[in-house]
Amino acid sequence: SKLSVIIPAAGSGVRMGSDIPKPFLKVGGRTILEHTISRFLEVPELTEIIIATSKDHISDIHSMFERISGDVILKVVEGGSKRQFSIYNALKEISDEATLVGVHDAVRPFIRPKLIIKCCNIAEEYGGAVLGVPAKDTIKQVDDKNVIKETPDRSFLWQAQTPQVFQKKLLRKAYESALESDFIGTDDASLVERIGGKVQMVEGDRENLKITYPVDLKIAELILGTGQ
Ligand code: C5P
Repeated sequence: SKLSVIIPAAGSGVRMGSDIPKPFLKVGGRTILEHTISRFLEVPELTEIIIATSKDHISDIHSMFERISGDVILKVVEGGSKRQFSIYNALKEISDEATLVGVHDAVRPFIRPKLIIKCCNIAEEYGGAVLGVPAKDTIKQVDDKNVIKETPDRSFLWQAQTPQVFQKKLLRKAYESALESDFIGTDDASLVERIGGKVQMVEGDRENLKITYPVDLKIAELILGTGQ
């Protein structure tokens, strides 16, 4: 199989409280995006990386990529106002040779290459594969006034991470259908689920954290052994 990976990196960083978007913050001396890309470059199935970003970062990404990449093709597209639109823009650039499309948040730099490969193998078999971990906290469903309505059985709840890998045709169809009906999801699998696609949860690890809040940057430095 041939994997094309889309890396959305066009978020604004509001929750981080920083002017610099999260993927371009540095941990251990390198940008978070560069860490993330390096992990993917260790996957033999990878043929192409498509990054969605804002205009200001396009040339930086090209020069960074020249330093670290091997034979993998880089494409950079402009991001949209929502993660889903950023990915939709990237989907239009997928090469014909790709059979699998993965989506991976730029801000998850500790993804293990082995787990990417595991998701590819499972997506090939089932249609889709999402990396995740069993929910650690009890999850509550609330109403618009935060009154708890329901406590779903935790043994059936997982926290979805990325990568989320799909057969190319399936993901394309899911994105076209979501666009037609103005459906906005918070991840890629939700778009595939709504058109009836089969998506398998794949157990990953908790080191694959999503750098979102300032505390996550501290944890990232600790994982890299560069924290105090
Ligand atoms: O905002 P959130 O934490 O869900 O962002 C997840 C990933 O999606 C980040 O890597 C972010 O840069 C990216 N993103 C994007 N375009 C947007 C919003 C977020 O590419 N409009």
